[in-house]
Amino acid sequence: MNREVVASTARLDLCAPVIGDVEPLVALWSDPETMKYIGGGEPWDDVKVRSRIERAIDTFADTGCAFYTIVERASRAVIGQGGLVPIEFNGKEIELGYRLGRAHWGKGYATEVARASAARGWGALGFGRLVAVTYPENVGSRRVLEKTGFVEVGETDVYYGVRCVLYELVKG
Ligand SMILES: CC(C)(COP(=O)(O)OP(=O)(O)OC[C@H]1O[C@@H](n2cnc3c(N)ncnc32)[C@H](O)[C@@H]1OP(=O)(O)O)[C@@H](O)C(=O)NCCC(=O)NCCS
Repeated sequence: MNREVVASTARLDLCAPVIGDVEPLVALWSDPETMKYIGGGEPWDDVKVRSRIERAIDTFADTGCAFYTIVERASRAVIGQGGLVPIEFNGKEIELGYRLGRAHWGKGYATEVARASAARGWGALGFGRLVAVTYPENVGSRRVLEKTGFVEVGETDVYYGVRCVLYELVKG
């Protein structure tokens, strides 16, 4: 598949989402352990993944933002999603997010995605501030944010209707 690469890291390509991503992503997001700290904590089926990809394709076309499809360059495999999306829970904000298939945890990949996404946010997209939210107990995700330079703001239930920790990163 010919992909539009939006940003690259040492080992990964962040690609514009396409409908062909549904099948490999259903394989990743149907795993309950992976989805434990996403939304309501339920695994996603084909219908849900397809609707999210369709939305991501539209958001990317309109804004250049999206949860990009993450491709591991060495294997050419789709291993997850990550990037920047516009949200409006507390005024207009840009949220950094990432999720990887379980086989790809613990390799530093999410930190590469977060850093590349922030660089795109400051550069091509011209943002000055990013936010991120995690479940308080999602220690791995919190560590990724800290390694990327995000600062903890505090706990809130304004985002997504669940109690979570809000982080922010302001352009240096
Ligand atoms: C959270 C997630 C993105 C982390 O991805 P990753 O590629 O493994 O992250 P990295 O390797 O870049 O960094 C993870 C860091 O957290 C640490 N960590 C991970 N799990 C941990 C745990 N249970 N306790 C303490 N530290 C932990 C790692 O040691 C690493 O820190 P280090 O580099 O200082 O050693 C991945 O596990 C994932 O996709 N989980 C499911 C989806 C999800 O929860 N997404 C985030 C929603 S907010």
